[in-house]
Amino acid sequence: MDIIKVSHLVKEYKKIKKEMGLKGAVKNLFVQDAEYVRAVDDISFEIEKGDIVAYIGPNGAGKSTTVKMLSGIMRPTSGEILINGISPQKERKRVVKNLGVVFGQRSQLNWNLRLGETFELLKRIYQIDGALYEKNIKMLDEIFQFREFIDTPVRQLSLGQRMRGDLAAAMLHSPEILFLDEPTIGLDVEAKYSVRKFIKEINARSKTTIILTTHDLGDVQELCKRLIIINDGKIIEDGSLDELVDRIAPYRQLVIDFYHPITVGHPKAELVSVEEARAVYKFRKDEITAAQLIEDISHTAPIKEVGLREAKIDDIIRTAYRGSAQL
Ligand SMILES: Nc1ncnc2c1ncn2[C@@H]1O[C@H](COP(=O)(O)OP(=O)(O)O)[C@@H](O)[C@H]1O
Ligand SMILES: [Mg+2]
Repeated sequence: MDIIKVSHLVKEYKKIKKEMGLKGAVKNLFVQDAEYVRAVDDISFEIEKGDIVAYIGPNGAGKSTTVKMLSGIMRPTSGEILINGISPQKERKRVVKNLGVVFGQRSQLNWNLRLGETFELLKRIYQIDGALYEKNIKMLDEIFQFREFIDTPVRQLSLGQRMRGDLAAAMLHSPEILFLDEPTIGLDVEAKYSVRKFIKEINARSKTTIILTTHDLGDVQELCKRLIIINDGKIIEDGSLDELVDRIAPYRQLVIDFYHPITVGHPKAELVSVEEARAVYKFRKDEITAAQLIEDISHTAPIKEVGLREAKIDDIIRTAYRGSAQL
């Protein structure tokens, strides 16, 4: 069953257009020309329970705006959102009970409270039953290991600890859906790896559905079977990373060093360059394997060394952003 269903979602922000100069300054006192920015422009998708979906796109693409509408923080201009069949705009309280939200750039934790006090506060806000609260604290501590800093004021936590605290806080009321907006932003490599591990663990243990917006393509590769790419408020790709790689970058390159300068062709590979004893071949992954190519060529001339070149995930995604399908 689809736990999230979004149809023809649109969000327009009003932008005040200011005229420059003295004449403009005077005019601005009287008229305010409203101009609209379509941050989200007719987006539709469905998400199945238990999936981890990456929601990615360049800066200003409309990711955070989408997350804010899905989590009921902001009203859409038009279109419909259903979370478990309920609209967050119509029945905000009922929907919010089932959601956890983490904004990497803005902590939800109270700066002046100790982490434990924040948890207690959330217990009251969400009216979490005592037994469930104890159970969740225990489980979340196994994942996030926050005991060691539970009595530390939030403002004294490291960024990595704070993120663990934020993630735990978002999960305290056992939400079925977790929205993570840039959860690894600013974290060092080690903290980033542990946050990824935590996300996987939450998903595996509680079958939590996770929507993850990120700039970090390592996050996508590590965590998400499906990615939705948006640009200029529109969906430009929706599918698995493998499909995207196969479609955008169906070619690989094989570099072969022979013992002597020689030109060896192959019917299923294009000879891109020959320099001295080194030849570079370009071939389609779905037409021939590198192993087969190496074997065929070695029948003609003995091979000293081989190397494989593949398109990088970053380049593939960037190509998708640009909408051009050539590498
Ligand atoms: N409160 C706002 N008022 C006006 N414009 C906004 C507001 N928030 C975002 N925008 C604009 O909407 C677009 C999408 O922003 P956002 O959803 O934050 O993108 P992303 O999270 O993908 O970087 C951008 O052009 C941004 O400048
Ligand atoms: Mg954003």
